[in-house]
Amino acid sequence: MVILEGRNITKKFAGLVAVDRVDFKLHKGEILGLIGPNGAGKTTMVNVIAGIYAPTEGDVFFKEKNISGLKPYQIGRLGIGRTFQIVKPFPGMTVRENASVGAMFGARGKGRSARQAEKKAEEILDFVGLGDQMDVRADQLNVASRKRLEVAKALAMGPDVVLFDEVMAGLNFSEIDRAIDLIRKVRDSGITILIIEHVMRAIKRVCDRIFVLHHGQKIADGSTDAVLADENVIQAYLGKRYKALVG
Ligand SMILES: Nc1ncnc2c1ncn2[C@@H]1O[C@H](COP(=O)(O)OP(=O)(O)O)[C@@H](O)[C@H]1O
Ligand SMILES: [Mg+2]
Repeated sequence: MVILEGRNITKKFAGLVAVDRVDFKLHKGEILGLIGPNGAGKTTMVNVIAGIYAPTEGDVFFKEKNISGLKPYQIGRLGIGRTFQIVKPFPGMTVRENASVGAMFGARGKGRSARQAEKKAEEILDFVGLGDQMDVRADQLNVASRKRLEVAKALAMGPDVVLFDEVMAGLNFSEIDRAIDLIRKVRDSGITILIIEHVMRAIKRVCDRIFVLHHGQKIADGSTDAVLADENVIQAYLGKRYKALVG
């Protein structure tokens, strides 16, 4: 079953076509990777899905409903959560308070009391491995924990689909391994995932399928193995990165 679909998604900024007539399908239960060079349009794509921007052309369908042009809070309530590439915690607030804000909005937030939201937040923080840092102020966290808090805020919204934008950037080798485990655990909990990532080791280990953007256009789409072996993808993006990986 297709849970999220983009048809002919186009987003222009003044003269620049950041996303150019892109189609994609996300099937319920899968992890779909979105890769491509810096500036390819990946974050813009996520921002269109999440309602930060209305598409200039094309439509986004979530559970067969056309959600193009809805506001971010409306899309959050329908069941799409997202993280931000530039992490955005409320700096003066604790980890628990940050996650509680997520729990008050989103798909199941309506009608939740502050206390119920806090309880939900605590559950999610345990789930992402921040259970022992709940009273720490968000701006005191290291990079890996900030990224986990981003994941927690998105999950606290109770989404059916979550959009992860470079949640592994800046992490070291062992932190990436833990992040891979967390992403799989999120999927096993029943959430469908669209993930933007540059860490190829992670892409190979978590994604069922991948699509590739280059100058806003989709240049490949298919199984992880097939896309990573595609000559156009290697030319446009993988290059040395890929050769280093396969030795
Ligand atoms: N709000 C904006 N206004 C103008 N240009 C933007 C804006 N957001 C992104 N862009 C441009 O759109 C292109 C795609 O950016 P982005 O989606 O962030 O790429 P990626 O996430 O793949 O690195 C880039 O050329 C970027 O400079
Ligand atoms: Mg980006």
